[in-house]
Amino acid sequence: ALVTSTDMLKKAYEGGYAIGAFNVNNMEIVQGIINAAKEEQAPVILQVSAGARKYASPIYLRKLVEAAIEDSNLPIVLHLDHGDDFEICKACVDSGFTSVMIDGSKHPFEENIRLTKEVVDYAHERGVVVEGELGKLAGVEDAVNVSAKDATYTDPDQVAEFVAKTGVDSLAIAIGTSHGAYKFKGEAKLDFERLEKISKLVPGFPIVLHGASSVPQEFVTKCNEFGGNIAGAMGVPEEMLRKAASMAVCKINIDTDLRLAMTASIREHFINHPEEFDPRKYLGPARDAIKRIVQHKIKNVLGCSNKA
Ligand code: G3H
Ligand code: 13P
Ligand code: ZN
Ligand code: NA
Repeated sequence: ALVTSTDMLKKAYEGGYAIGAFNVNNMEIVQGIINAAKEEQAPVILQVSAGARKYASPIYLRKLVEAAIEDSNLPIVLHLDHGDDFEICKACVDSGFTSVMIDGSKHPFEENIRLTKEVVDYAHERGVVVEGELGKLAGVEDAVNVSAKDATYTDPDQVAEFVAKTGVDSLAIAIGTSHGAYKFKGEAKLDFERLEKISKLVPGFPIVLHGASSVPQEFVTKCNEFGGNIAGAMGVPEEMLRKAASMAVCKINIDTDLRLAMTASIREHFINHPEEFDPRKYLGPARDAIKRIVQHKIKNVLGCSNKA
């Protein structure tokens, strides 16, 4: 069924695990994720970015997710990823999303509160839940020292006030992750002390971790082996994600790893089968590659198998 994330995140909090939120852009990605979730009987969040809406058009994505719900019988959340303003959040609420993110993290604190509350008021009236964001996801070279951390990472002193004043249902925080395939230059580090501090200030409140791809080296290697050029890619070690999931983090966002899995598979196919030109011949294996990585996440990283 199409559901909000309220129950899912509550159970995840209590059970010390996390729900996977995977970005969807086309049919093969939706099917790869759902095939994994079906086998694991895992609840799942399918999230759509502004870029995804532009690429596939909102109606196609919505219908693909409807198909996923009919096909799987799983609890599925249709979520807007990184809504930039009130209008995109409203458009998604009005068209049947059960969850939206308003990412006001680039604004000053008071404006972030005002914008987020505006979205919350609109969404809650219509039974839709809202994710906010406090703090900026680190760039690759950020947060090498304490003052850089304090400038970009979530300020624990703002969290309780933000949650109370906006009424958000979950909160994305910055503790050292970043989007994309180049997350760390040297050693991977997340600020778990900050996460611990934040969670104590808002007991029972679900925290969201963005930029949580692990960038499996097998995918990077395969991309490069078959004509790619991806250098210096590095993700969040799985052990750190397991730790975050055992804490207040209840939703873990993953996009890059699916992109890498898909691209590695297609590159390999093109090199090994230069005579083929039927898209099903390379999109099929790419869909299977997505299924495998998502199943691995559910079982071995998120811990949400059999929680549907
Ligand atoms: O947060 C970013 C997600 O990976 C979505 O990326 O905006 O290119 O669709 P996108
Ligand atoms: P990754 O780029 O690490 O997969 O993060 C995705 C994300 O946070 C989407 O909101
Ligand atoms: Zn994100
Ligand atoms: Na958790």
